[in-house]
Amino acid sequence: MDLREFIRQCEAAGDLKRITAEVDWNLELSHISKMVEEKNGPALLFENVKGYNTPVLTGAFGTAKRMAIALGMNTDYSMCDLAREWMKLTLDKVIPAQETGNGPVMENVIEGDNINLFNSFPVPKFYPLDGGRYIGTAVFLIVRDPETGEINLGTYRMQLLDEKTCGVQILPGKRGERIMKKYKKLGKKMPAVAIIGCDPLLFMAGALMHAKASEFDIAGSIRGVPTEIVISEHTGLPIPATAEIALEGEIDPNNFRAEGPFGEYTGYYSDEFGKEILKPALEVKRVYHRNNPVLWATSVGRPVTDVHMLLAFTRTATLWSDLEAMRIPGIKSVYVPPESAGRFWAIASVQQRYPGHAAHVGNAIISTTTGSYGVKGVIVVDDDIKADDMGRVFWALSVRYDPLRSTELIKRGRSTPLDPALDPKSNKLITSRIIMDATLPYEWEEKPVEIKLDEETVKKVQSRWSEYGID
Ligand SMILES: Cc1cc2nc3c(=O)[nH]c(=O)nc-3n(C[C@H](O)[C@H](O)[C@H](O)COP(=O)(O)O)c2cc1C
Repeated sequence: MDLREFIRQCEAAGDLKRITAEVDWNLELSHISKMVEEKNGPALLFENVKGYNTPVLTGAFGTAKRMAIALGMNTDYSMCDLAREWMKLTLDKVIPAQETGNGPVMENVIEGDNINLFNSFPVPKFYPLDGGRYIGTAVFLIVRDPETGEINLGTYRMQLLDEKTCGVQILPGKRGERIMKKYKKLGKKMPAVAIIGCDPLLFMAGALMHAKASEFDIAGSIRGVPTEIVISEHTGLPIPATAEIALEGEIDPNNFRAEGPFGEYTGYYSDEFGKEILKPALEVKRVYHRNNPVLWATSVGRPVTDVHMLLAFTRTATLWSDLEAMRIPGIKSVYVPPESAGRFWAIASVQQRYPGHAAHVGNAIISTTTGSYGVKGVIVVDDDIKADDMGRVFWALSVRYDPLRSTELIKRGRSTPLDPALDPKSNKLITSRIIMDATLPYEWEEKPVEIKLDEETVKKVQSRWSEYGID
């Protein structure tokens, strides 16, 4: 699987539209993409971007069906089902990536003075108040931990700062930042490769909150075959063999540059708006790209965009994996809704087996690595409700939840500085949390009697359905 095969499969499924009319990279492209996404429309391949000869793909992960295509899974699955499969496939073993001598990504190599990122690719500007053009929205950065030798993939937005430099927003506390600090301590620049356009599964892996193995190897375990990588002769970093575009260079931990602002996935600019914030910058030394490279971009803005779908999917998968690893019994489903900007709320469905079981699950969620970062609310429901069945979840909140009995408030938890709800005068790194137990307490001896359909009558009605004349 590579991006081209993904595009082919989406098109075959009627889930991708080619736009042949001329479209401006300046706002028009991003606006079409957002407006189509708000209507649950298809992925878009812009083939005629003003001033450029190469295409831009947007809206790739706009629906669960397209995520299933990317994952090579059943296209009838919900996001929750897909995340469960991911969890099962990655829990025990991963398939190591495999080196190959060459790959289509090496079809074109541009070096040194010949690099001009503005001229080479149809990089969009998304919103009028953005600080510039963003080459990295569907992107991930590959770096190596100088102490352990481990490879890390992380998705951090990237702005074109000049012809050869991209601003990279690696937020505080991310593994990418911790690795960068190690290079700083060593007095070295950090070699890095940014990948734009590749097997969509690798982009998903790059967005994982915490990976227990190399993201390349995790992707291999989902595919069932190793990810093919080319080792760069310059930096020794692995580059996916079928990537569309790879920008290779280095980040100087002592030379940050002004980047932003950029409309965030919360639907707001962060409090960097109107200020000059210095961020790491990738000094690009080499550009590799396939012939006719596809520049992959996400939509941007308030939920739900493909970014929220991706965040929700990867966080559901890692949260579920974390809970499985904690060996908590009875967990039937887990869900981080895309509408919660793909990260702020988590829901779990549990088959209760002991008093306090639902509370156990609620507390466990905010103790996991995924749940402890930015999750503000947890809802626990009984196992008759699937975690992604929002109508029934709200029913449970209405008829099984009692605010005084069923609520835990936690004052301090790790947050994201991008949360617009946090006091701008605070350091914006700490959030409070709420755990809402919307289950009927296990220990109640007398439980409310639920209304249920009579099974015999249901069977009879089903057998006579056509006689009633109801479609
Ligand atoms: C589309 C998208 C954009 C993202 N943008 C950023 C970003 O600009 N900065 C950031 O620190 N994290 C961003 N994230 C979240 C990180 O990718 C995620 O936290 C990942 O785990 C970081 O990798 P690391 O922990 O290995 O550093 C983004 C995620 C997605 C899906």
